Amino acid sequence: MKHRYRIPPTTTWVVLVAIAVFLLSIATREAPARDESRDHDSVAPAEWSDRMVRRALSHSPLPPPATDPTNRIADDMQAAELGHRLFFDTSLSANGAVSCATCHVPELGFSDGKPLGRGVADSVRHSMTLWNAAYQRWFFWDGRADSLWSQALGPLESPLELGGDRTAIAHRIASTPSYRMAYESLFGELPDLDAADRFPPEARPDATDSEASTAWSAMSEADRRAIDGVFVNIGKSVAAYERRLVSRESAFDRFVAGLRGGDREAVDAYPAAARRGFEIFAGRGNCRLCHFGPNFSDGEFHNTGIAPLGGGVPRDSGRYDGIPFVLGDPFNAAGLHSDDPAGDVAGKLGFVRRSTESWGQFRTPSLRNVAITAPYMHQGQIPTLREVVRFYSTLEGAVSAGHHGEKLLEPLNLTEAEIDDLVAFLESLTDTAIDPKWLSPPAAKASDGDSAPPR
Ligand code: HEC
Ligand code: HEC
Repeated sequence: MKHRYRIPPTTTWVVLVAIAVFLLSIATREAPARDESRDHDSVAPAEWSDRMVRRALSHSPLPPPATDPTNRIADDMQAAELGHRLFFDTSLSANGAVSCATCHVPELGFSDGKPLGRGVADSVRHSMTLWNAAYQRWFFWDGRADSLWSQALGPLESPLELGGDRTAIAHRIASTPSYRMAYESLFGELPDLDAADRFPPEARPDATDSEASTAWSAMSEADRRAIDGVFVNIGKSVAAYERRLVSRESAFDRFVAGLRGGDREAVDAYPAAARRGFEIFAGRGNCRLCHFGPNFSDGEFHNTGIAPLGGGVPRDSGRYDGIPFVLGDPFNAAGLHSDDPAGDVAGKLGFVRRSTESWGQFRTPSLRNVAITAPYMHQGQIPTLREVVRFYSTLEGAVSAGHHGEKLLEPLNLTEAEIDDLVAFLESLTDTAIDPKWLSPPAAKASDGDSAPPR
């Protein structure tokens, strides 16, 4: 029997091979990694491999923060302005003397320069910077809040921070004409807080049998929910302000933009020490394992073994107790006051599991603006960046996480010159481009007509 198909003639083969070569060339041209490195060959530092170039590109630029569907006013300018005022307002605190800005001082990188925060009383952890907080998924060192707005509710009532009271804060908004106006234009009418039999001056749930907590228990559920609604809206406004505190233009970003765009002048303007520091950071230092991506944070929790302030055995359980807290928080993303209770942010709560490994883990901080936020670590244990790098170099004094802990860190044994370089790199992550209006208290408007004295 004869074959139905004959072997094609040579000319057909030539055509087929030509088509294959053409397709292959398209495929390789579209492989992004290949494309990225090829274009930068001309301006990249001579000793850099394609891989080092790709790593630099992976850390910049920082895109705008992801939207937060649990907070429908997250990106509303009017809400940011209200939040800006609240952030600097000491009248929300128990003693009329503490505001968010007491511990999150703009000139100190939105931290406070002290190892431990000090508000109405002393904190047990270091005041975290607010720079780029909007990029995180979990908030606080232990991740016990899952949104910026629910985070803000903690310090308002924490007896260590503002020591305030949600019902008193609602009264304060209602009795301050400019607050009332801003609030109602964003969220609609306030509840009728003048009804003194329903809304006592102070009422909040807490674990003690204080007068305020007794008053809270005596309120109807609907009235409690109304107060919680105001409280949450305050948190959402503060979050809208915090979302403006974004640092994305640093010497490092200009260097990477130069690499990306083939701009030799921009690449050469980057100090050689910082460039060598990046080589360690992204190379044998393995820092990028946790300080990952454009915000230099993987958003996850790790145990670096840093000893507690004052030495001794670590007592702070970190993520281990943060997990049950966030799962049980009535203000979490899946709760009644979330604007997207069935969305992705709420969904991630379903995936967190507490394990023995979570004991003593803390969230990886972003390294953007790190040079202006000393001291460092969750208790401000380390006063300078140089000493942080020295810690990673020797791991001296590190407390082992035990056999349940992850073991990601090995002493790097850096030379003094390498330590200098790594510090120079970290210093090159400082931003210079934020709108200065967010860095100081808002100017009071003569038309505010706010005469109510602080509580
Ligand atoms: C007494 C000092 C103090 C005051 C006042 C204070 N904070 Fe904090 N802040 C801290 C400390 C300490 C932490 C870390 C606490 C922890 O992890 O347990 C923190 C953490 C945070 C975080 C988490 C940042 C992140 O990346 O996860 C945000 C956001 C924040 N504070 C905002 C605020 C706001 C808003 C206010 C005012 C309503 C406020 N803080 C008042 C000390 C303070
Ligand atoms: C295993 C993950 C991991 C690796 C690897 C890692 N870090 Fe960290 N880094 C963290 C965590 C977690 C913290 C906070 C620890 C704490 O407070 O207990 C931190 C804190 C820091 C801080 C202090 C930031 C602040 O705001 O307090 C700096 C600076 C820093 N790391 C730089 C580096 C450098 C440089 C390297 C590489 C030599 C590196 N890190 C490697 C996880 C890591």
